[in-house]
Amino acid sequence: MQAGNKLVIAVSGKGGVGKTTTTALMVKALLGSGLRSMLVVDANPDSNLPEVLGVKVEKTVGDVTSELKKAIDRGELPPTVSKRDMLEFKVFEVLKELPEFDLLVMGRTEGEGCYCMVNDVLTEVVDTLSKNYAITLMDMEAGLEHLSRRTDRDVDYMLIVTDLSRMGFLTAARIKKLAEEVHINFKRVFLLGNRFPADKEAILNSYAKEIGVEPLGIVPYDDNVARFNLEGIPLLKLPDNSPALIAIKGFVKKIGLI
Ligand SMILES: Nc1ncnc2c1ncn2[C@@H]1O[C@H](COP(=O)(O)OP(=O)(O)O)[C@@H](O)[C@H]1O
Ligand SMILES: [Mg+2]
Repeated sequence: MQAGNKLVIAVSGKGGVGKTTTTALMVKALLGSGLRSMLVVDANPDSNLPEVLGVKVEKTVGDVTSELKKAIDRGELPPTVSKRDMLEFKVFEVLKELPEFDLLVMGRTEGEGCYCMVNDVLTEVVDTLSKNYAITLMDMEAGLEHLSRRTDRDVDYMLIVTDLSRMGFLTAARIKKLAEEVHINFKRVFLLGNRFPADKEAILNSYAKEIGVEPLGIVPYDDNVARFNLEGIPLLKLPDNSPALIAIKGFVKKIGLI
């Protein structure tokens, strides 16, 4: 990767297709590749990426924004401090800094109004924060919240994960359309087939063509991934010969991240 590039990669797709697994395996593939810095964002309200990465997180962005909302409602915010500055300060407070990467967990905010109030500011804060890292990886919902709608990025990739199911494919199409509707300007949009039988790659390829995205390839069902999940072992400890990890490493190279 060229020095100075700031890459933001969003991983999206239907629930259960393997977004968190894909994100964690990308983190593992990127570690030890000489990457200067990496920010990992868990943007799911039901966050489990920290657990999958083996990281303990005490507080989420949702927690601190809820606190901030309460402080504002009680009139406790000093008039000289802007909401944005306050939120940025709080986000830095919950940013988990680890030796190999930093982790930010969005979590939940309490109530709709709270979510609306902070969402735009939050998007901006994450946008600013991501400029400090060579790579930002975001494990997202299908809704694309928290994604910047500004287009001043060097590169923005969207990686849509699907399994071999109609709902997985339909959700992929919806995400692609949603990204266009809200004018998120991705440089490249990829479709990845997870838990795919080797002989079904052609189906992924033709569907990718149909919805106008680039087929990235398929990740096989991996017994190690399933076992690690069941036993609660972080995926960062996955052995190098695990088929899913080998596949993801290949994709990370293919799209030029290492
Ligand atoms: N390639 C794979 N091989 C075996 N199990 C997988 C694979 N990908 C995902 N899984 C399992 O499927 C379940 C859902 O995956 P997850 O990554 O949590 O999906 P999502 O984040 O999209 O909801 C988890 O139990 C995970 O361990
Ligand atoms: Mg997930």
